Amino acid sequence: MLFKIGFCQFKPALLEKEKNIAKMCSLVDEIQADLIVFPELCTSGYVFCEKSEVQEFADDFESSKTTRLFTELSQKNNTAYVIGFPEKHDRKLYNSSMLINPDGTKHLYRKIHLFNEEKQWFAPGDLGFNVHQTKYGVLVGQMICFDWIFPEAARTLMLKGAQIIAHPANLVLPWCQKAMITRSLENRVYTITCNRTGTEVNQDKEFYFTGMSQVVSPLGEVLCDADKIEERVVVFEIDIESADDKQITKYNNILEDRIPEFYKY
Ligand code: ACM
Repeated sequence: MLFKIGFCQFKPALLEKEKNIAKMCSLVDEIQADLIVFPELCTSGYVFCEKSEVQEFADDFESSKTTRLFTELSQKNNTAYVIGFPEKHDRKLYNSSMLINPDGTKHLYRKIHLFNEEKQWFAPGDLGFNVHQTKYGVLVGQMICFDWIFPEAARTLMLKGAQIIAHPANLVLPWCQKAMITRSLENRVYTITCNRTGTEVNQDKEFYFTGMSQVVSPLGEVLCDADKIEERVVVFEIDIESADDKQITKYNNILEDRIPEFYKY
């Protein structure tokens, strides 16, 4: 089955949620796709100096206006979206992403491996790595940015049946895009890494984000990508069943050849 996937790479404005959401809606307006991934924390920006800043722009997943707006957008465009956002729940803050499907179903992931100062604002995710259905029953797993450096994240999603890994990011280090080629290859899944662009300044802090969002095939091919700075939606039509083929050679299958008893320590 052909399935159209992609990403919306852009530069969120720090602490300007309404402006960011309006920009996201206009960037994907009239884009024909089945699944589009947005960057990590793209409703709020990334470079926080105080926990109160996160608190002010965080949303409750179940009941927020933000969730409602993206649900309406998903229905209008008949496209599923994965969106990184700051979440508030039970007096805690999480660096989360939501999978919003056009049929109104929605699924939450809370970032497990927090990067650097994120540990000052967010609690580590407590929901595990999970796989959910999107359009036509296609199976999508979510992980966020720095989760890439822990191969167990993508491996767990593959073992739970993911055909596509949706990976919102705010990358500042130079290695992830290359590493995600390996994550795709070693798990034989599609990966969509959506990074943000631009420089963000808050008080004395300045971060430069590296763009270069990409879609990678189960054979490790970069099917489409963006450059370091452009704000752009890119979509690519894939054959989803190729993520179910775990055979490498006549004698090798990446699921059957695993020997978990030797992976214990
Ligand atoms: C990152 O996890 N935002 C680098």
